[in-house]
Amino acid sequence: MIGTSGVRAGDNNRDLYALVEEFFRTTFATDNALITEAVRRMLAAGGKRLRPRLTLLAAEANGADPEAQLPLAAYMELIHVGTLIHDDVVDRADTRRGVNSTAVDYGNRVSVLAGDYLFAWIFKNVTASYPAPIPHILSSTLADITDGEVLQLRALGNLELPLAGYIEVVLKKTASLFAASAECGAIMAGASTLRVKALRDFGLYFGVAFQMLDDLLDMTASEAELGKPIGNDLRERKMTIPLILALEDATPEFRTRLERHFGDPDGPGAGEAIRALVADVGEAGGLRKTREAIAGYVERAKMSLAPLGSVPARAELAALADGLSRDSIARTR
Ligand code: IPE
Ligand code: IPE
Ligand code: MG
Ligand code: MG
Repeated sequence: MIGTSGVRAGDNNRDLYALVEEFFRTTFATDNALITEAVRRMLAAGGKRLRPRLTLLAAEANGADPEAQLPLAAYMELIHVGTLIHDDVVDRADTRRGVNSTAVDYGNRVSVLAGDYLFAWIFKNVTASYPAPIPHILSSTLADITDGEVLQLRALGNLELPLAGYIEVVLKKTASLFAASAECGAIMAGASTLRVKALRDFGLYFGVAFQMLDDLLDMTASEAELGKPIGNDLRERKMTIPLILALEDATPEFRTRLERHFGDPDGPGAGEAIRALVADVGEAGGLRKTREAIAGYVERAKMSLAPLGSVPARAELAALADGLSRDSIARTR
């Protein structure tokens, strides 16, 4: 049961993941039955719950009881779920969290409206329950996420997109929510400006490394492992980091294959073309260089935590970041 036992700061037995699950299972409902059902379905399908984890750990790192921040942590996950529902429409992805995407089961029209409704419902509740600057941070974050997704759309198929352009997209579409999740947890714990900034910076760098790993997995994992389509980034002509870094050392043949695929990304030979392009990216060092870039952002994330001192939650945050490096190494051996 929530609120009676379990999570206490520094309690090694506490299970933040289980707490978030229990919270969703028992408390999530909106006034719209169809939308509640669609969102519950996505929540029940799983997910790593990383954003709420950052909120709870940021609160705990500042001496607060993480359980008190469960609703805020849940709003962070719900913002994420809303962006996933929309993202799968935009990316034409038919699976998510190992089940049909919302777009497949409910259609694009309901998906667009469900995401809109969910965002409005979150902000209605957050503005009613949380002090400044929490509502402002959350609304700015959603603006950044959408801005990042639009920037990414405009860069589709652009072989000249520089790494800095990619980083700008990723800071907005992905890192902003990790940053806000950690920042808001710290603010609600009454942390000093310096410690709030430390956690925000951690979230930002963690988020960049996280998206770089996600891009790597899109080329190296299987749909069974990830629960979402693989190779979808190349199908959508997305300029992800393994591709951008591979293009620095691309053979003319690789470039030609890429241009041909981008000219007809849904054609009958697309599956085979994507497999060949992934091999090209590997040969040109794109996977290795992505792994190195991830390691760099993981280091920056961990360094950001210095102002926290030696609290146990700091070690947990650092371990989450190290996990990204570890996964990237396992995928590029
Ligand atoms: C997917 O996020 C979207 C990205 C930012 C890459 P997650 O990989 O955290 O998705 P879930 O929540 O575990 O399903
Ligand atoms: C992250 O990018 C999308 C959001 C920030 C919503 P991706 O498009 O790579 O995420 P996945 O791979 O679909 O989960
Ligand atoms: Mg996507
Ligand atoms: Mg992806």
